Amino acid sequence: MASIIDGRQVATSVIEAVKTASEALQEQTGVKTGLAVVIVGDDPASHAYVSAKSKMAKECGFTSVQHTLPEETTQEELAALVQTLNKDESLHGILVQLPLPKHLNSDPIIQSILPEKDVDGLHVVNAGKVATGDLDGGLVSCTPAGAMVFVKRTHGEDLSGLNAVVIGRSNLFGKPMAALLLAANATVTVAHSRTKDLPGVCRGADILVAAVGRPQMVKADWVKPGATVIDVGINRIAAPERGDGRFRLVGDVAFEECAKVASVITPVPGGVGPMTIAMLMANTVIAAFRSVGMAPPEF
Ligand code: GUN
Repeated sequence: MASIIDGRQVATSVIEAVKTASEALQEQTGVKTGLAVVIVGDDPASHAYVSAKSKMAKECGFTSVQHTLPEETTQEELAALVQTLNKDESLHGILVQLPLPKHLNSDPIIQSILPEKDVDGLHVVNAGKVATGDLDGGLVSCTPAGAMVFVKRTHGEDLSGLNAVVIGRSNLFGKPMAALLLAANATVTVAHSRTKDLPGVCRGADILVAAVGRPQMVKADWVKPGATVIDVGINRIAAPERGDGRFRLVGDVAFEECAKVASVITPVPGGVGPMTIAMLMANTVIAAFRSVGMAPPEF
C-alpha cells in the first residue's frame, strides 16, 4: 500500500512559512503584502474559490482586497480595474478568477496584469520564464508549483535518471509542469488524448502526473510498481450511495487500485488542491519581497 501524501498538512506548512516571511518583511521594511482578487459574475464554484483565496490572504496577514463585479461588466471596465490595481503600490499580487463570463475575452485581461504582480503565473512573461528554465526570476503558476513541492519532498531536488510522464498538455498545467520536471533533470514525456498506447507510456513513469479531467481514468495497470502518482484532477461524479442527487469529488486516478501499486500517491480531495492556494500566497509574498528589492524566500 502506497503512502498517501497529506496535501492539507503540506499546505499548512507552506502557509506557516508565508506568514513568517510576510511578518519579517513588514518588520524590516514596513511593507505589508497585498493581494487583489477579482471575480466577475455569479458562478457559485468560482465564488467559493475566490472567498477561500481572500480569506487565506487575510490569515497570512496580507492586505486582502476582493473586487466582485457584476455579470454585465464590460471588457473596458475590467481592463480599467486591472490598470488601477497595477498602479496600486499597496498591492503585490493580482488574480483575475477564470473562467470569465462568455462575453469577456480573458487573454488580453490576463496579459495586461503586470508580470511582477501576476501571482497566477499566467502572463506570457512568467510562462516564458518557466519554459526557459528561469525559475528564480518570474512567478510559477500555482498548481504545478504545488505539485512540484510533493515531487521534491518525495524525490529530493534532483530528479536525474527518473522518468516523469505528465498526462495533459494545457497551458495552465501540463506544459508548465513538464517544464518544472525538466528543470529538475527528470526525463519528461507529455502525454495527451492523441498519445498511442497511453497505458504503456504511463507504465514507464517513475513520477506519473495526471491532469486530464477524466474521472478515475488512470488504472492500476497503468502504474509502474513503486511509482509516485500525483493526481491533479478534480471531477464531480454522482454518488447515489450518499443519497439521491448527491455527488462526490474524485481525481483522474482510480485511487484505491492505484494505491496498491504506487509507493506514494496523492488523494482527491486533500492532495494537490490545498497546495494551489498555498502557492498563491507564496507567490504573493515573493512578489512583495521583490517589490522592495529583497531576495524572496523559497517555498
Ligand atoms: N480558476 C480555476 N483555477 C484558477 C486559478 O488557478 N487561477 C485563476 N485565475 N482562475 C482559476
